[in-house]
Amino acid sequence: MRIAVTGAGGRLGRELARALRSHDALLLDRRALDVTDPAACAAALGGADAVIHAAAWTDVDGAESAPADARATNVFGANNVAAAAPYVVVVSTDFVFDGRASAPYDEDAEPDPLQVYGETKLVGERAALLANENVAVARSAWLYGAAEPDGFVRAVLQRLEAGSPFEVVTDQVGSPTYVADLAPALVAMCEQRATGTFHVANSGEASRYDFARAIARAAGRDESLIVPVATADAPPRPAARPAYAPLRSTRHPALPPWEDALRRAMPDILGA
Ligand SMILES: NC(=O)c1ccc[n+]([C@@H]2O[C@H](COP(=O)([O-])OP(=O)(O)OC[C@H]3O[C@@H](n4cnc5c(N)ncnc54)[C@H](OP(=O)(O)O)[C@@H]3O)[C@@H](O)[C@H]2O)c1
Repeated sequence: MRIAVTGAGGRLGRELARALRSHDALLLDRRALDVTDPAACAAALGGADAVIHAAAWTDVDGAESAPADARATNVFGANNVAAAAPYVVVVSTDFVFDGRASAPYDEDAEPDPLQVYGETKLVGERAALLANENVAVARSAWLYGAAEPDGFVRAVLQRLEAGSPFEVVTDQVGSPTYVADLAPALVAMCEQRATGTFHVANSGEASRYDFARAIARAAGRDESLIVPVATADAPPRPAARPAYAPLRSTRHPALPPWEDALRRAMPDILGA
């Protein structure tokens, strides 16, 4: 089975490359395939049995000032990829939800994104499902991995290294997810040709503050440097974030608890 990956140079894409080491894999970074080009998608993906579509505009704040660019990648790109291949897993996000829930979101919950990024990802999901009946949408959340140069985990470790106290918000709650747990689950979805919408995230929930403290503990750093703050008292950001958007699934086996995933991840993160 030949599995292609779009966005193969990204955080998830690089981990998918690892998960597909013993497969017939076609790894397409942005230089190899710009997903906004429908003819290029048809040419690059037509010969694959399955595609994991990990390419996306992921700059949540930047999307607010460049909505057409975010839409081109997240909506038209998802449509182009879904139309080009026999089977596609489209990776999506918890940011399709408004975060006003009081319990974790399952696949039947109604999306209602708060910002341009979430809106473009939601329309992209729908475009892909319409373009091809053999599509799975896999929503995940708060991704982190060992090989990433930036991202929340890396930022927290840098602040801890600097040694001065810093604030992290307590009222944004989600499902931190280790890409090394997510990537094999996406490959398994291809092998099973799962279709429909799935929530695929490490189980449990954490605030950004909880997550930052756990990062400090797992890395053997001083967690007391991390100071709780409410979003309303933190520096404003262009895009609103959902307050409470953990994911749970009624359709996909739960991934391991996020605390366990973080402990497993930390040696690789520190060694990268
Ligand atoms: N990061 C998270 O916390 C998170 C949470 C939930 C869901 N997701 C979803 O998970 C997927 C993977 O995200 P990630 O964290 O791996 O993001 P990432 O590191 O930003 O990777 C996305 C990749 O897509 C590429 N890309 C952007 N525009 C493209 C285009 N027009 N054609 C082809 N490639 C393009 C980017 O290339 P350049 O870097 O060269 O622009 C980048 O390599 C995305 O669908 C994202 O929405 C992410």
